[in-house]
Amino acid sequence: MDAGRTPLRTTDSPLEANRTWWTNHAGEYLAQHGPTLGDSDFIWGPEGLREAEIELIAPPQELPDHHILEVGAGAAQCSRYLASLGADVVATDLAPGMVTAARELNSRTGVEFPVIEADALTLPFPDGEFDTVFTSFGVIPFVPDLSELHREIARVLSDGGRWIYSALHPARWMFPDDPTAAGMTVRNSYFDATPYQERDGGRLAYVEFHHTFSAHINALTDAGFIVDEVIEPTWPAGRDVVWGGWGPERSPYIPGTLIIASHLPDVVARG
Ligand SMILES: C[S@@+](CC[C@H](N)C(=O)[O-])C[C@H]1O[C@@H](n2cnc3c(N)ncnc32)[C@H](O)[C@@H]1O
Repeated sequence: MDAGRTPLRTTDSPLEANRTWWTNHAGEYLAQHGPTLGDSDFIWGPEGLREAEIELIAPPQELPDHHILEVGAGAAQCSRYLASLGADVVATDLAPGMVTAARELNSRTGVEFPVIEADALTLPFPDGEFDTVFTSFGVIPFVPDLSELHREIARVLSDGGRWIYSALHPARWMFPDDPTAAGMTVRNSYFDATPYQERDGGRLAYVEFHHTFSAHINALTDAGFIVDEVIEPTWPAGRDVVWGGWGPERSPYIPGTLIIASHLPDVVARG
C-alpha cells in the first residue's frame, strides 16, 4: 500500500474508494473505536464533547419535535442516542459495511430507526424533508467540493433548517498523524490542498481532502447557510484516550476537531 499526498488521477473515483474502504474496515474501526463512541452515545469528536452537554441539535425534551437526518453515520451511534430520546431520525452512510453494522447495533440495543445506504452528495429524499441534518466526523473529509455537499444538504432541509457538523480541524493538516510530542512539528503546508491518499497496486484505496477554515465558511455561505457557532473543543485534563492523531500528549496543544453549526434563512429562495 502506497500512502502520501499526490494529485488524483483522472480515472480515480474517491466515492468508490471510500465506499470500499469503509466497508472493508468497518469491523476493525468499530472494534477499535466502538468502546469510545458507545453504542447509543453522541460525541462530537475524540475530545469526548457530548451532545448531552452542549445540546447543539436540541435540548433532550425538544428532540421528539425534530425530524433529523444523519449523513456519514457510520454505525449510527449518534442517531441511536437521539432516537432513544424520542427524535424522529434517519441515519445514512455511503458504505454498505457501515449500514450493516448500524442495523446490527439497532437490533442489539433495541433502538430502532431507519438506516439507509446513501451518498451524502445525492440523498434519496425529497426537498425540504428534514429540519436538522448533522454529521459527527462523517462525509466532510471525503468530499473534494464542500459547496456541492452543502447544496445537497440545503436541498433536503426545510426553510430555517439547521446543518451541524464536526470534522477534522484544518490545522491538523500541517502535522503528521502522530499523537505524541514527535507529531508537533509542522510537516505540510496548511495551504497545500493536495489530497492524502492510499493506493493499492495503483488503485485508489482511500482518500481524504483538506478544507481550510475559509473553505469551510465560504462553502457554507455559498450554499445559503448562516453560520451560528464555531466550536474548537479542548482536550479535557485527564482524558487518556488515544485515537489516531489525538491523545493526551499532543491534543492539549493542537486542535483536532472543528464543529460548525449553521442554518438556512426562514424563507429560502429555491432555484
Ligand atoms: C469516521 S466515520 C464517522 C461516523 C461516526 N460518526 C463515527 O464517529 O464513527 C466516517 C463515515 O463517513 C462515511 N462517508 C464517507 N464518504 C461519504 C459520503 N460521500 N456519503 C455518506 N457517507 C460517507 C464513511 O462510510 C464512514 O462510515
